[in-house]
Parts: sequence; structure tokens; C-alpha cells
Amino acid sequence: MISKKMEKAINEQINRELFSEYLYLSMQAWFAGENLDGMASWMAAQSQEERFHAMKFFDYLMDRGGTVKLMAMEQPEVDFKTPLNAFTEALKHEQFITKSIHDLLDLAIKEKDHPTQSFLQWFVDEQVEEEATADKIVQRLKMAGNSMSIIFMMDRELGEREFDPEAEE
Ligand code: FEO
Repeated sequence: MISKKMEKAINEQINRELFSEYLYLSMQAWFAGENLDGMASWMAAQSQEERFHAMKFFDYLMDRGGTVKLMAMEQPEVDFKTPLNAFTEALKHEQFITKSIHDLLDLAIKEKDHPTQSFLQWFVDEQVEEEATADKIVQRLKMAGNSMSIIFMMDRELGEREFDPEAEE
């Protein structure tokens, strides 16, 4: 049986992952409004991936005999101003999520909760990927500057991304 402290921390993480889904959905809407359909589609895939992350925590908590408690969600930003700003916000958000995963792992170690330590390892690795992907796009958008032809080229390329839950496992 999972401790009440760990249960509360995982419920807070479910909320953060669901907020991530919501934030990327808001970015999807903003990109679609800017006619950058490829970037909108990239954000749609990212949003679906966040729901998958939330459900991984959800299922884990149930498996450990815990209680899932959904909480109120913050309202995400709606105006992201430029593609560079949107992806910079995405990168900052992933860095925040990485810290929250590391804090959860610190708690699991402190509590000598071995199953949770093992479970969290997947997320530790996943966050390296999440930050690297967002950072690469930020760096490329910085290089593109105001060149709309490069931004449209990136839009086409990013639009090829699809979320595949099986590839995630
Ligand atoms: Fe669920 Fe993008 O971290």
C-alpha cells in the first residue's frame, strides 16, 4: 500500500501532467489561428502524449491501492505571440516538469518506496527526451529569425509528428 504522502504527491503530478495536456492544447489552438498547421499538429501530438503521462500515473496509483483525486486546473496562456515564444514556453514547462519528477523521486527514496522509484525511472528518462526535443526546436527557431520561408519549412516538418503510445512503452 502506498503512503498517504506519496499518494498526495502523485495526485499533484497527475494534475501537472493534465495541465501539460491543456497547455499544449492551448498552443495547438494558437498555432492553428496563425495558420501554422504543422506546428498545431505537433502540439496536438504533444498534448496526447501528456494525457498518456497522466494516465500512467493514474494507473500506477490505482495499482498500488491508492486513491486518485483530480484537482482544479489552472487556466493556460492563450496568446503565445510568436512560434519562438511558444516553444520557449514549452521548453520552460518541460524543465518545470523535470524538476517535479526529480522531487517525486527524492520523496520515493526518502520513503524507501522501491516500486515508486522503479516506476519513476521511465519518467526521468522521458524528461531528458522531452527537454532535448523542445530545446532543438527553440534553437532552430532562433536561427530562423524572421525568415518566414524557414518557419514554413519547419512547420511542414513538425507536422509529420504523430503520437504513438506503443512507441512510448
Ligand atoms: Fe509529461 Fe512533457 O512531460
